[in-house]
Amino acid sequence: MATVKAHYESVLSDVYSWMFGGMEQGLSRNRALFKELGLEPVSQGLAIDLGAGCGFQSIPLAELGYQVMAIDLDDKLLQEMSAHADGLNIEPVQGNLCDFPAFLANTYPEKKSDLIICMTDTLLHLDSAEQVKQVISDVRNHLSQKGKFVLSFRDLSFELLELARFIPVKSDENTVFTCFLEYEKEKVKVHDLVNKRVNDEWHFYKSFYYKLRLSEQWIKQVLQECGLTLIAEKNQNGMLVIVAELSV
Ligand SMILES: C[S@@+](CC[C@H](N)C(=O)[O-])C[C@H]1O[C@@H](n2cnc3c(N)ncnc32)[C@H](O)[C@@H]1O
Repeated sequence: MATVKAHYESVLSDVYSWMFGGMEQGLSRNRALFKELGLEPVSQGLAIDLGAGCGFQSIPLAELGYQVMAIDLDDKLLQEMSAHADGLNIEPVQGNLCDFPAFLANTYPEKKSDLIICMTDTLLHLDSAEQVKQVISDVRNHLSQKGKFVLSFRDLSFELLELARFIPVKSDENTVFTCFLEYEKEKVKVHDLVNKRVNDEWHFYKSFYYKLRLSEQWIKQVLQECGLTLIAEKNQNGMLVIVAELSV
């Protein structure tokens, strides 16, 4: 059985930051996004990054003054983040993001978060739509008054057909990354295929994982049902970024 954790360990974490143009480019893109969205810390300044990866968002948030809890399943990506986070207030936690209430209770009992983020399709990596609902409900219960939830994802409810399912993700003289999408009723089976040249020999790495096919409309409805108000949205290279606020 393919798991997200095994997929990242065997193929994706080694090429993750490279796929986005390298560490500096990933950080710059999110520094600009957070500035545009006006996400400076208020009150206690705690931010939780659900599925933090190599720190593309945790690092810019810590630079803005947040105390960041960065949760991810993948140890290699968390180590990559730590290597670029010298002196910043980031606590890496290797674990399942669905367990964030327990991590929070252990480290910061009684504390609510000003900001919780879950970006770049991370919510779609969960096992079921029910699990996504539970996480959003937990997010709502751990936000401070006027606290914000930022999520970004691709709406995979629309189906690519035939050859459009083969996606040339990125390549350079030493690495070629291709993705193939296979559509099932509720999920997309994402096959990642990576060719790497080492000492003039090409090596082939392959693995797949699943992403949930959740529509923009469904996610917005769940946010609303959980008591979060949509306050901003934008399209960032085909990825929908949503900002919701606890305003009760
Ligand atoms: C597409 S990456 C996004 C990383 C980062 N937020 C970014 O935008 O670059 C998804 C990340 O979520 C992590 N992830 C997926 N499912 C998870 C889970 N249930 N608990 C914790 N981390 C998870 C993966 O290991 C991976 O680092």
